Amino acid sequence: MNKNKRFFVTTPIYYINDLPHIGHAYATFAADILARYHRSVGDQTFFLTGTDENSQKTVFAAQTAGKEIKVYTDELARRWQETWQKLGISNDDFIRTTEPRHAKVVKEIFEKIDQKGDLYKSKYEGLYCVGHEAFLKPDDLDENGLCPDHKTKPEQISEANYFFRLSKYQPALLQHFKNNPSFVEPKERYNEILNFIKGGLQDISVTRETQKWGIPSPVDPNQVVYVWFDALINYISADSSRWPADVHIIGKDILRFHAVIWPAMLLSAGYPLPKKIFAHGFFTIDGVKISKSLGNAIDPLAISEKYGVDALRYYLFKEIPFGNDGDFSFKRLEEVYNADLANGLGNLVARVAKLCEIAGLVLKPKKTKPVFDAAYKKALEELRFQDALNLIWSKITNIDRQIDQSRPWELIKKDTQQAEVVLTSFVEQIRAVQILLIPFLPETAKKIAEQFVGPKIKSAKPLFPRI
Ligand code: MSP
Repeated sequence: MNKNKRFFVTTPIYYINDLPHIGHAYATFAADILARYHRSVGDQTFFLTGTDENSQKTVFAAQTAGKEIKVYTDELARRWQETWQKLGISNDDFIRTTEPRHAKVVKEIFEKIDQKGDLYKSKYEGLYCVGHEAFLKPDDLDENGLCPDHKTKPEQISEANYFFRLSKYQPALLQHFKNNPSFVEPKERYNEILNFIKGGLQDISVTRETQKWGIPSPVDPNQVVYVWFDALINYISADSSRWPADVHIIGKDILRFHAVIWPAMLLSAGYPLPKKIFAHGFFTIDGVKISKSLGNAIDPLAISEKYGVDALRYYLFKEIPFGNDGDFSFKRLEEVYNADLANGLGNLVARVAKLCEIAGLVLKPKKTKPVFDAAYKKALEELRFQDALNLIWSKITNIDRQIDQSRPWELIKKDTQQAEVVLTSFVEQIRAVQILLIPFLPETAKKIAEQFVGPKIKSAKPLFPRI
């Protein structure tokens, strides 16, 4: 146990123009796994998520819903929070960028950047995509002049904005990347960003003149702060005593904001940089691209109601190596559920409990302290979730094999002493597996702990009824 070690993990803060879909749940589950792991080893853990509300998307969504914007944002933020609660997410805080605590820190950081001489006023002309909340270049557009991701026509914008001297930070960023080879992970993302920085950075516009919805710019109250510039600051505004983050979990589509603009803002304002930015991949649903804007999103709550939250967590992190793109397939979900959860883990637990019950095994009270083996620890520290799960499941297979070999159902009849020895060993091994399951399958781990606490072990409802 290390009470003094701190661990701070974040998810992106999500736009509230719609409800959570499986892609959002993915990042949130990943952060939850890390938070639960670090709590188990005794680290002072802080897990932050929240909502990104100062976007033009919010304005349009409220209009479409025919609601006053405050009413709309409150309702949507509440529904996001409820979704995470229902999915058992263990976040310690939830930041909304419309909260005063956020606006206060945005103002402070903006002023620090200004005092550093890193803001200047200039005219901006460009193509703005509200879907991305970012400017696009003409050659980013498709053959019809539309944003290729959102299929919408970007707005031609021409206004006098404040610019942030991003270009000034190119050398410092290059140096930081050189000194910190695991600043961005996976490795191919690190290389991608490093090449992007080497290619030269352009200053970016960080205020908007024509928008009304947002945080007023402290240097010019007639403008609002560019939504990305405000959103990134959530990681500090929620609780500045926690900064710097140990890991920002994000999707690969928002990597430049996190790995280029955000570190430059922090360098300018005089804050330490986050330790790591981990970009996960994108997944398709049965082969089709998902996104809120395309309207084919799937609801993580619906899936978890049908299969259970733990089954959804297991499938997502077992099936797709974290960091890679992947496909969410309902067929695979059911296959994996039956093979690994119903037959694998569920069957093992039921089998050992039943044998203990028949043998009338009475265990000496023994509290198993959380023990994570080195390979498992390393896998979690490197966000190799699939490897950690494979490690647990190899232990499960191994216990199954020992049961088949020692034939305890026969021992119970002819050698009760030996039966007790082998059953006690299986119980201890299941307890060890239970500990390893805590970060990944928290509900299941809790059920196993309750069932295997002793002194007597009894059969219980199957953990994962077969589909
Ligand atoms: N509000 C910004 C983030 C600001 S963080 C300071 C934002 N929000 S979002 O709601 O559009 O997206 C949040 C996350 O969802 C992103 O990390 C994105 O990668 C992720 N996903 C959206 N669609 C996804 C998939 N199809 N697959 C996996 N993740 C996906 O961006």
